[in-house]
Amino acid sequence: MNIPFLSFEETNRQIKSEMMQAIEKCVDSKWYVLGNEVKQFEEAYAKYSTTQFAVGVANGLDALHLSLLALGIKRGDEVIVPSNTYIATVLAISYTGARPVFVEPDLRTYNIDPDKIEEKITPKTKAIMPVHLYGQACEMDKIMAIASQHGLYIVEDNAQAHGASFKDRLTGSFGDINATSFYPGKNLGALGDAGGITTNSEVLYMKCLSLRNYGSNKKYYNEVIGFNSRLDEVQAAILSVKLNYINSWTTQRIQLSNWYIDRLSACSDLILPATASGATHVYHLFTVRTDKRDTLQQALHKSGIGTLIHYPVPPHLQEAYRHLQYKKGDFPIAEEISNTTLSLPLFIGMTENQVNEVCDVITSFYR
Ligand SMILES: Cc1ncc(COP(=O)(O)O)c(C=O)c1O
Repeated sequence: MNIPFLSFEETNRQIKSEMMQAIEKCVDSKWYVLGNEVKQFEEAYAKYSTTQFAVGVANGLDALHLSLLALGIKRGDEVIVPSNTYIATVLAISYTGARPVFVEPDLRTYNIDPDKIEEKITPKTKAIMPVHLYGQACEMDKIMAIASQHGLYIVEDNAQAHGASFKDRLTGSFGDINATSFYPGKNLGALGDAGGITTNSEVLYMKCLSLRNYGSNKKYYNEVIGFNSRLDEVQAAILSVKLNYINSWTTQRIQLSNWYIDRLSACSDLILPATASGATHVYHLFTVRTDKRDTLQQALHKSGIGTLIHYPVPPHLQEAYRHLQYKKGDFPIAEEISNTTLSLPLFIGMTENQVNEVCDVITSFYR
């Protein structure tokens, strides 16, 4: 038995010829940077996201960084972020000079606990960054209410949750400005690095167009010190092809996860993912938790089953953030998740039999 953690085999089989045609069209267009492909994808992605505007950028980290810059977040400001997020959310805050302020997640959903946000708000707080972790939408109604009461911006990190929703509204459409990643392994992924920003504000949209292109919206005239963070034509063309499949791929992810939940629910040693009321989960990752995480991972590995840990070290304990002077125990929920979480294989084309095989190894491990 050999079940990888992630495989592109089936998606490539389904759409390889469409992707090759899209690439050929780019080659033949003889226009390789900021051309029709980027424009078309931006329009399609904005429509998909139910926002007025989308901006294609080089990667998800840049999407977060440029979103914060567009809002004017700067040194001296504080930005609220979940303590168990992927490091990119925190890095983006650091790039602006602002300070990341960690709020613990809910141990059931792994998303930021809305009830713990207000105690972290100070006069310096400028924004809240909800991260729809593993593919589950955050409880956006509570978060939006807190932001509006305190006059704070919301910047969603939607890198892992294309197509998820809270109370029927899509993630990536709630915030003042929102960032996503199209890293290949994401639910909507390019064939290399790529990212995107969504917003309903024309002002923020224009700022992002400028920031990603040397701070210029008119060739050779620079209004701000910008970056080169353009989505390239070939990646945009690939993303346009894949966008047509995202809904059916999401349905498959949910089906695979339901099989996992069904087969593993009798296993009392294992904590399965829980979805908050009102939220949907698009299962970018199917994560379980167990005190025997490391030995379970070894047992799966011995049986040829790939797993990963998202994430082994929470941001406050990363060497890069030593200067914030946090220590073990400061964010016990994030630490508990890091110590116990394990992501099982889940990819388009995975079969019910493969899910059963993974579950068989897990149940015999506990027997
Ligand atoms: C939650 C989250 N935020 C941000 C990023 C950064 O995206 P990228 O790798 O495209 O820079 C990722 C993915 O890597 C992510 O999972």
